[in-house]
Amino acid sequence: MNPLLHIHQLGVSYGGLRAVDDVSIDVHTDRVMGLIGPNGAGKTTTIDAICGFVPKATGIIELAGRRLESLPPHSRARAGLVRTFQSVELFDDLTIRENLIVAASAPRWYSTMLDAIHPNRRVTAESVSDAIEMTKINDLIDLRPKQLSHGQRRIVGVARALAGKPKLVLLDEPAAGLDPDETDKLGELIASLPKRGIGVLLVDHDMTLVLDVCDDITVLDFGRVIATGTPQEIRGNQAVIAAYLGSAHE
Ligand SMILES: Nc1ncnc2c1ncn2[C@@H]1O[C@H](COP(=O)(O)OP(=O)(O)OP(=O)(O)O)[C@@H](O)[C@H]1O
Ligand SMILES: [Mg+2]
Repeated sequence: MNPLLHIHQLGVSYGGLRAVDDVSIDVHTDRVMGLIGPNGAGKTTTIDAICGFVPKATGIIELAGRRLESLPPHSRARAGLVRTFQSVELFDDLTIRENLIVAASAPRWYSTMLDAIHPNRRVTAESVSDAIEMTKINDLIDLRPKQLSHGQRRIVGVARALAGKPKLVLLDEPAAGLDPDETDKLGELIASLPKRGIGVLLVDHDMTLVLDVCDDITVLDFGRVIATGTPQEIRGNQAVIAAYLGSAHE
């Protein structure tokens, strides 16, 4: 089966620093792919480059067979790539439901004439209610972001990404600052996405979560892939243990 997301020889330089170097990753629709590594390894930069936030990335980025690397971020989002950020930024003046509606509508700010002729509010309402149902945030939707706990805001960040009807969601440290109970719930949610036809690329330092929910894992160190394999293979990989798993994150 062709991968949903095919990344080949991705490269990003910041001045003299090679932040991402020759990184190749395939993510399949029915699988959760983990991307792990020490602080500064290049995980966020990889997500930035995939989503189009890095001006001078090199390499191939293909989603469902379509080349994306020449497209701006909003076109990549329209094509089905939606990300979360390491820090969750929600609109404070809007309720949670309104935050989701904005996210579900956003790609249409750039809509083509065809979309303008056939405005499709039903799709927005449907994708918002799907995202609320998937993330089980029904009791939060009329609140404003300031009324939520840190953990609840993180889940809403994921809900907002899902409201954009992604083919693939890229999650940058969704479990940061969550308590074990919240992390378990997040893990269940992430594990359920492939069954709904949504591919996942998960970046997180919580190894219990990553080893639990990921089907495959790629490990970065100093911008380069040092290992790719199943959680079991990664757990026993000497290079990974030396670079990352043996450190304080475990
Ligand atoms: N905009 C930028 N300008 C210059 N250097 C940057 C920029 N963004 C990231 N870097 C550098 O690129 C390298 C990779 O950073 P990146 O944020 O991708 O790491 P990370 O794996 O996400 O780390 P963490 O686990 O701490 O989030 C680091 O050395 C970082 O300092
Ligand atoms: Mg990061």
